[in-house]
Amino acid sequence: MFKIVVCVSGGGTNLQAIIHGVDQGAVENTKIAKVISNNRGAYALERARQAGIEAVCVSPKDYEDREAFNQAFVQEIEKTEPDLIVLAGFLVTLPVQLIHRYANRIINIHPSLIPSFCGTGYYGLKVHEAVLARGVKITGATVHFVDEGMDTGPIIMQKAVAVREDDTPKTLQKRVMEEAEWVILPWCINLIAGGKVRVENGRVFVSE
Ligand code: GRF
Repeated sequence: MFKIVVCVSGGGTNLQAIIHGVDQGAVENTKIAKVISNNRGAYALERARQAGIEAVCVSPKDYEDREAFNQAFVQEIEKTEPDLIVLAGFLVTLPVQLIHRYANRIINIHPSLIPSFCGTGYYGLKVHEAVLARGVKITGATVHFVDEGMDTGPIIMQKAVAVREDDTPKTLQKRVMEEAEWVILPWCINLIAGGKVRVENGRVFVSE
């Protein structure tokens, strides 16, 4: 069984899509071993518990400095020995040691077509506000491996979503989630769990 840990900070709709994918068999041979949040109030933790998944909060507020938090966070991950770490709306910068230890075994979902509208400051609604302000006609979502940079790791999959003239940041965010994020994140996990994804020179190749 392929073991994943999902890290979340907020509502957890992407987590829900993964849970659904595992339950319905779209994500094969995979167990969500644990859900970790930095935010005690994250509804994602509730979603995990309702699905019978261990849900843990590791909050920076409970530690005296960043280093102590990082250590606790890494320990919580390592207890589970996951095959893959999935960042599904996780708003904390990962400790570099974890990124090195889990090279090409951490993935993130970003709500734009990278390299557009990504990097520092582009999170949540801000991404969709910037998309509308620039007037692009196509946006979407990207699943990528996590490296030391901000949204710079190898791209695994992208899905485009058309921008409508009457979109607001909220309507666009909702459509990007429904049409792209909730589709490609479980899909990528299934491909990785099935051993179908390899990375060469910063590029991802998927075999069928
Ligand atoms: C999503 O838009 C995801 O792309 C971004 O944060 C949001 C998380 O939403 N990284 P949810 O918690 O999965 O509902």
